Amino acid sequence: MLSRTGTALRGMPVAATRLGMRFYAQLPLRVPVKMPNGIEYEQPTGLFINNKFVRAKQGKTFEVVSPATEEEITHVYEAREDDVEDAIAAADQAFKSGVWSDADPLVRAKALNKLAELIEEDLETIASIETLDNGKAISSARGDVQLVANYLRSCAGWCDKIDGRLINTGSTHFSYTIRQPLGVCGQIIPWNFPLLMWAWKVGPALATGNTVVLKTAESTPLSALYVSQFVPKAGIPAGVVNIISGFGKIIGEALTTHPKIKKIAFTGSTATGRHIYQNAGANLKKVTLELGGKSPNIVFADADLKATVQNIILGIYYNSGEVCCAGSRVYVEESVYDQFLEELKAATENVKVGDPFDDATFQGAQTSQMQLSKILKYVEIGRDEGATLVTGGERLGNKGFFVKPTIFGDVTEDMRIVKEEIFGPVVTITKFKTVEEVIEKANDSEYGLAAGVHTKDINKAIEVSNRVNSGTVWINTFNDFHHAVPFGGFNASGIGREMGIEALENYTQVKAVRAKLTLSGK
Ligand code: NAI
Ligand code: MG
Repeated sequence: MLSRTGTALRGMPVAATRLGMRFYAQLPLRVPVKMPNGIEYEQPTGLFINNKFVRAKQGKTFEVVSPATEEEITHVYEAREDDVEDAIAAADQAFKSGVWSDADPLVRAKALNKLAELIEEDLETIASIETLDNGKAISSARGDVQLVANYLRSCAGWCDKIDGRLINTGSTHFSYTIRQPLGVCGQIIPWNFPLLMWAWKVGPALATGNTVVLKTAESTPLSALYVSQFVPKAGIPAGVVNIISGFGKIIGEALTTHPKIKKIAFTGSTATGRHIYQNAGANLKKVTLELGGKSPNIVFADADLKATVQNIILGIYYNSGEVCCAGSRVYVEESVYDQFLEELKAATENVKVGDPFDDATFQGAQTSQMQLSKILKYVEIGRDEGATLVTGGERLGNKGFFVKPTIFGDVTEDMRIVKEEIFGPVVTITKFKTVEEVIEKANDSEYGLAAGVHTKDINKAIEVSNRVNSGTVWINTFNDFHHAVPFGGFNASGIGREMGIEALENYTQVKAVRAKLTLSGK
């Protein structure tokens, strides 16, 4: 048996849970898991260090819960500072050996392509693991895993294109630059897109020749461990990729302060991002941060009403609203406001919420009890602030962390539900009269991750895109990602960009070489 506090107990009892996995005296490094859709697989539970799954040194484990059923799926080993040391030592040694950083770039490309292939071939199992652990709808999870494969392939394509430049400084010298990797990168990811965030971090770091120690989020460690078994199969040498499960305050802290870590890449809350930035600053590490948001989604009267309603739905209820760039503030031009609200309400009440393993489900479970409580608390806050609850606003059922898709109307810009990131299926809706007014409202936020503009007028679309303070603007679409298009935030939404060519800049440093030539003197 495993104790709730997480230490593997001695003894022999073997008990079966409803999900069909068995517990042993000491947590095995692989446990059988049967998922609600019938797929059975072996879940690695160890820390992935030096291309092997190993037990945490102190033998601690923690529980992994399915948010749709609130039942335990398994335990996994919990890394502590001593394990972090091991992981960093492995990554450091691999980096210094040059086996990865100095290899022909096509060696890295081949391995990343193979990794993409292995993941794509196993898409259904991986998507199901993501759904089991995170609670997201299986259709969304399949999309995530496909984006993972696409992005790894895109990174593979960059491997042999990371060039410096030749600089003309006259005939007495030969001057050029090269782009070199940074070394060991510490990467910390959240739970809303566990494997996609893994890919956004690992892909560009590996393409550019770095080695990594990545910490998954404590509520969703399973998919990254599962795909770790493909790392050696893809031909990636030992020590290049190290994956550790554990808690932010313990090993997140250890990673962000460790002198051998040259760069920190983080996705998560703005509060934690701020803290990490301070840690990294004190140690002069390079940092990229992808943080929170409160993204405006602007609807002009001339927009295609039906399509726009669907885009607003996608903007806020996709992934159960647990999306950093969720279009959580909707602004609608006054002349169509009443009609739009009516249609949005009807479409919202039609969103299929529930069993994430049902192909027809659009909105699955929230990831944790903590998120469920946070969302319901914001509903209370909205009511207290005097906003009108148009629909939703309550938990769905009493088992699993489900929330009814929620719209608040009659909001004012100073309300907390308009200002703060809720990170759930809750949207506010406001009227506007002019372009000027809506831009002012859209930009009245500490954040600046994304924005949406819905109109048939190209002039209006481009003007608003130019003037809105956000790292991404979607026109007549939303939450529409592509591996070649960079993503990241203005202001409190972050630093640096992921995906696209921009992501590579975060993982290389420029070396300038200037050779004085001995000329023939003719
Ligand atoms: P969090 O930002 O604390 O957690 C994200 C990751 O950071 C996890 O892996 C966690 O273990 C790690 N972490 C926590 N404290 C750390 C520390 N001191 N040093 C290093 N790493 C640390 O976010 P949390 O608590 O899971 O969620 C709270 C809120 O954050 C959510 O309700 C949501 O509003 C926001 N959030 C935003 C995300 C985004 O994609 N921008 C993702 C997840 C959460
Ligand atoms: Mg979980």
